[in-house]
Amino acid sequence: MAPAGISTSSAITLHINGEKHTLPVDHRTTLLDALRERLDLTGTKKGCDQGQCGACTVLIDGRRAVSCLQLAVAAEGREITTIEGVAQDGRLHPVQEAFVELDGFQCGYCTPGQICSALAVIEEHAAGWPSAATEDVRPEAGPPPLTPEEIRERMSGNLCRCGAYTSIVRAVAQAASQVGDDVKEPVA
Ligand code: FES
Ligand code: FES
Repeated sequence: MAPAGISTSSAITLHINGEKHTLPVDHRTTLLDALRERLDLTGTKKGCDQGQCGACTVLIDGRRAVSCLQLAVAAEGREITTIEGVAQDGRLHPVQEAFVELDGFQCGYCTPGQICSALAVIEEHAAGWPSAATEDVRPEAGPPPLTPEEIRERMSGNLCRCGAYTSIVRAVAQAASQVGDDVKEPVA
């Protein structure tokens, strides 16, 4: 129990998918629970609730984050994108289209997190960020081609219980090539 005079809750304003939501939250509330339980944005999924599966991945200021390890109060004032905000004007994002076209899911439970991660992977790669799979990380070597190995490594924080990994890699590669990224090797 908090000492007398110390408040354990606050009213916060979250910026989600271009809209502002003001709500009172207990300071211990995770962003994931605020999204799902308080704002009815249930597209973001809860898998492990301890940062290991990636099902709860959202974008915060354009960077991917597991929302189960993020306190809602710490996300105040930042731009949050959930899967509900990825399609624009009734049109699926190319990453979403690729997942549908190439069967990048089975049960679909991990899919919102996979798609949010894939959006960031494509941007991180296009910006020249190396990964643990990048052979030559010297700046003069330039950005690595987005090989299947690169995609697998960069998406490794998102688990899929159904094992749709092969199709997920193909979908990320297709979406990346559509936005002009350097996808060098065909994905089987
Ligand atoms: S629910 Fe957040 S990483 Fe698993
Ligand atoms: S599609 Fe079922 S967990 Fe990934």
